[in-house]
Amino acid sequence: MSLLVKNGEIVTESQRYVADIYCEDETITRIDRSIAAPPGAEVVDAAGKYVFPGFIDPHVHIHLPFMGTFAKDTHETAGQAALVGGTTTFIEMICPARADQPLEAFELWLGKARGHCPCDFSFHMGVTRFDDAAEKDFREIVRRGVSSFKIFLAYKGALGITDEELCKTLRLGKQLGVITTAHCENAELIEELQKGLLAEGKTGPEYHYWSRPPAVEAEGVHHLMTFAEMTGAHVYVVHTSCEEALREAMRGSARGAQVWVETLIQYLLCDKTDAERPNFEGAKYVMSPPLREKSNQDILWNALQKGFVSTLATDHAPFDFAAQKQMGKNNFTLIPNGIPSLEDRINLLYTYGVKRGRIDLHQFVGAAGAQAAKIFGLFPRKGTIQPGSDADLVIYDPKYRGRISAKTQQMNVDYNAFEGMKIEGRPHIVTLRGQIAARDGKFTGHPARGQFLQREPTHF
Ligand code: URP
Ligand code: ZN
Ligand code: ZN
Repeated sequence: MSLLVKNGEIVTESQRYVADIYCEDETITRIDRSIAAPPGAEVVDAAGKYVFPGFIDPHVHIHLPFMGTFAKDTHETAGQAALVGGTTTFIEMICPARADQPLEAFELWLGKARGHCPCDFSFHMGVTRFDDAAEKDFREIVRRGVSSFKIFLAYKGALGITDEELCKTLRLGKQLGVITTAHCENAELIEELQKGLLAEGKTGPEYHYWSRPPAVEAEGVHHLMTFAEMTGAHVYVVHTSCEEALREAMRGSARGAQVWVETLIQYLLCDKTDAERPNFEGAKYVMSPPLREKSNQDILWNALQKGFVSTLATDHAPFDFAAQKQMGKNNFTLIPNGIPSLEDRINLLYTYGVKRGRIDLHQFVGAAGAQAAKIFGLFPRKGTIQPGSDADLVIYDPKYRGRISAKTQQMNVDYNAFEGMKIEGRPHIVTLRGQIAARDGKFTGHPARGQFLQREPTHF
């Protein structure tokens, strides 16, 4: 089975040119100015379109037991949403409870995804407890192809770990060449601030911000930087939301910490006032870290453009407004944290980044996929277009005009935080390893075709 993509403008992180791409079985085998269609090849005309490498979302939650409920998507619905939006690979967090055995959690998450996911997938292994038994499991999980850890410095009493555990996790990561991704917020400060606000009767979603102001996030990043410096471990700060946190990562880097920084599409486009919307609508925008003052957006865009922020992810964590978000109706600390954005990340980044002149096409490809492939050991299998790479292609129509709406989305959740926003471009065709998986906003692939991507450690 073969696929020929003709006349498209190929854009990778470093190149831009018009050529044909020939894919046999699952990989790209030839790129040339003009390739004649071999008998039996499926031919796609990409004239007037960009051809991007399939995008990678390095931070999603699909199976997520969290705050007394579960995130809404299944691997099937999330994978379809990802593909329709141009994301051909995602990396999901395995989030065991503290009492769980890590290897059992790995097998549970793998079992939920394998045979049920339409796009390719990998995992970050959540370290929510570190002791001798857990360490043995982590070594085995790395052998099985999960070469990144995930830790939470927030969510005290649930997913969060102690400083002793943080130190041991980073030491193990250093020894195994595994990068540790980290949710950075000071858990004790959050707890104290939450108690104070609730005692004053401040229970609405707008107070979530005041329980986790920028200093709380910046302190978390500073804390991680200190431990990274002390251990020499490679670390990755997830969902950076504000100038104060970014500065701590940059200061840490200047002192010698090996650090990479991620931000999310929602921090670039939404702000603190969204969580202040009346009639509890603000709950749709409750996530951690919280949405920030609008002034942070220019700083994050600039950091993305300069490369201080490497990746643009979603932290996709969908909870229905009608039921799940209501759990915190009388107490913001009980609102399940997170928003759905997996489906819309690429179109929003293209529209409000590239089209508005904030980033160029190469920075777009870098932030939305190539950098994640490099940091997490998937490059050049994923994240680029070259012979030998997986034939994951996003044939992107820059002339498309539309608006985001929950009514037309694939994500299995009852709202969209970007409802009504204009998009100026969308994937025309998305291929996953040589097969067409989405076309013009509709999933057309196989619901179980996604592969578990085993990744070698690269962070020595
Ligand atoms: O609010 C968020 N970010 N929810 C998902 C869990 C996490 O912290 O990443
Ligand atoms: Zn987090
Ligand atoms: Zn997350």
